[in-house]
Amino acid sequence: MEFVTLNNGVKMPILGFGVYQIQDPEECERCVLDAINVGYRSIDTAQVYQNEEAVGRAIKKSGVPREEFFITTKVWISNAGYDKAKTSIQKSMDKLQLDYLDLVLIHQPFNDYYGTYRAMEELYKEGKISAIGISNFYPDRYVDLVEFSEVVPAVNQVETHVFNQQVAAHELMKKYNTQIESWGPFAEGKNNLFTNSTLQEIGDKYNKSTAQVALRFLIQREVVVIPKTVNKNRMEENYNVFDFTLTAEEIEKIAALDTCESLFFSHYDPQAVEYIINLGK
Ligand SMILES: NC(=O)c1ccc[n+]([C@@H]2O[C@H](COP(=O)([O-])OP(=O)(O)OC[C@H]3O[C@@H](n4cnc5c(N)ncnc54)[C@H](OP(=O)(O)O)[C@@H]3O)[C@@H](O)[C@H]2O)c1
Repeated sequence: MEFVTLNNGVKMPILGFGVYQIQDPEECERCVLDAINVGYRSIDTAQVYQNEEAVGRAIKKSGVPREEFFITTKVWISNAGYDKAKTSIQKSMDKLQLDYLDLVLIHQPFNDYYGTYRAMEELYKEGKISAIGISNFYPDRYVDLVEFSEVVPAVNQVETHVFNQQVAAHELMKKYNTQIESWGPFAEGKNNLFTNSTLQEIGDKYNKSTAQVALRFLIQREVVVIPKTVNKNRMEENYNVFDFTLTAEEIEKIAALDTCESLFFSHYDPQAVEYIINLGK
């Protein structure tokens, strides 16, 4: 496994396993155990995914030492604000059966996220969280939070894939020393990512799949990836992306797929904001 070093010196695997939309508890536990057996040590969950307990059970059952894992959760909008965030993070730790978390992110830039961040800064200083960060903070909100916080977010997890590469946002994060992390590294298969001819042609050369090329592209750009699958063969496929290297020319061809637009929703669209705020209610 390759690692990135966060702005506080903590090492984070560049490849992890995401568990969004694996809500059935038994299915989630089975998936996380499969992923751990394949070799994944970084697991990305969230309060709103409602599967922290299942993730915790799988970690425990695996028998793998705690210090080998890198466990991320995210504080949901309804838990925003200093007091609620603090209580909810303790609840997440209890559900995950962990006495510290590797990374806690503010899931969305809505509600009292400054209060949430202050709670996270405190828990970070107490050693309950090894690194703190944010998610879905696009450039305007990102700069605002960085400028008015004591601890620079270690990570910003944003929609990033071959069709929405976040080049400008990534540059800004580098300027302030925040690691970019991709959510939806396959765009959840939108825009026919898995049959894209550019990815396919490049993959054929290395005997790799379109999925592997899509991940490799992000990894070579130093973007942390957390692909999700419920299928163990695909977990292995997505894990085996460290034995080939894309050339500069191939990177350029994939760079040309960028539309610089979300394939999901815009955080600047009030209807999308209403939709997101209503999730998990
Ligand atoms: N912070 C946020 O707001 C946010 C938002 C979304 C996601 N996330 C995080 O990012 C993680 C990944 O994003 P995501 O789950 O939305 O989508 P994704 O990883 O881009 O795509 C997952 C989809 O791709 C399929 N798939 C996976 N590997 C494949 C392969 N090798 N070949 C063909 N199909 C494959 C999966 O199907 P099967 O499962 O059927 O194999 C699933 O339908 C999430 O699980 C979550 O942890 C965070």
